[in-house]
Amino acid sequence: MFYASFLRVSLNNEVLEMAIQMKTTRRVFLAAGTAVAIATAAGFGKHLSVEAQSNRTINLYSARHYDSDNALYEGFTKKTGIKVNLIEAPADKLIERIKSEGANSPADVLMTVDAGNLWRAQEAGLLQPVSSKTLQSAIPANLRDPQGHWFGLSKRARVIVYNKSRVQPSQLSTYEDLASPKWKGRIMIRSSSNVYNQSLVGSMLAVHGAAKTEAWAKGVVTNFAAPPKGNDTAQIKEVASGAADLTLVNTYYVVRLMKSNKPEEKEIASKVGVFFPNQRDRGTHVNISGGGVVKTSQNRDAAIQFLEYLASPEAQSLLARGNNEYPARSGVSIDQMLASLGKFKEDKLNAAVYGRNNSEALKLMDRAGWK
Ligand SMILES: [Fe+2]
Repeated sequence: MFYASFLRVSLNNEVLEMAIQMKTTRRVFLAAGTAVAIATAAGFGKHLSVEAQSNRTINLYSARHYDSDNALYEGFTKKTGIKVNLIEAPADKLIERIKSEGANSPADVLMTVDAGNLWRAQEAGLLQPVSSKTLQSAIPANLRDPQGHWFGLSKRARVIVYNKSRVQPSQLSTYEDLASPKWKGRIMIRSSSNVYNQSLVGSMLAVHGAAKTEAWAKGVVTNFAAPPKGNDTAQIKEVASGAADLTLVNTYYVVRLMKSNKPEEKEIASKVGVFFPNQRDRGTHVNISGGGVVKTSQNRDAAIQFLEYLASPEAQSLLARGNNEYPARSGVSIDQMLASLGKFKEDKLNAAVYGRNNSEALKLMDRAGWK
């Protein structure tokens, strides 16, 4: 392309990428003053002058797919004047996309659900360390990468959901107990290809080591009522119908059914109970959704500002309520229906630990026959 190659020799790398991608930051426009003159002469000026009138923009690659998040982006723009350009896709697709875009990636911030996904992005070298006092004080240490590659922004607990007419809460205790022969043929749970279960197993690896965790996984598989199929909501439905007696799901799936406008879904929610495992020892496994600044971001300051905004009390409330999650920041009120599930002790294991254990967890589940 003529303009691109012309600009390539005229501009430094940063300005080049921005100009080619027709980015809209004021900073770049000012820095690219010379380029504008050149590009105008080349017939490119109309576009750049339109661009110059716009405000700064960050490109957000997000695997969060909740419409309510839009209110967050608007809140950020209102506060800072920085626009948010949203690209939505599942985490693995976004990670692949940033990889293939390489040094030219326009991504500034990557947001995903589950520490396992954030870890994969970090492991692939796609995120850069961020040191921000605001983020460090807002987000508890166990919910962020120690080097600042990513920060947890909301929390979800992986709880036991049981059929109230078949199971008494007094029969329930820990994740470990799910391998007990008393549950033979009574458990349904999502596939091992799902990152939520990988993270749970990753957290157990940290406590029990490989041999014990694998023996546990084998025990759980022995207790399956049927081979894994469907998402967390599907498991809750199976439990409510009596096809299984219990399952493990993230809290927000239960609340979603409780709040549903469909009477049949409300009824499903009424048939099941929620139990927070391991209250007498390390606490219930808690996972995060979160984000980090992409390594090749050319809007690093704005990207950090965005994460800091998401950690503010105002945004934390919106972000958590949007998907019936717990805020990462303490002192922020939570959704009433979520609160009705009860207070519980959380496992404070750093999310980076079970993130890092992700691939070992998956291999182990595979060996245990967890489909
Ligand atoms: Fe989910």
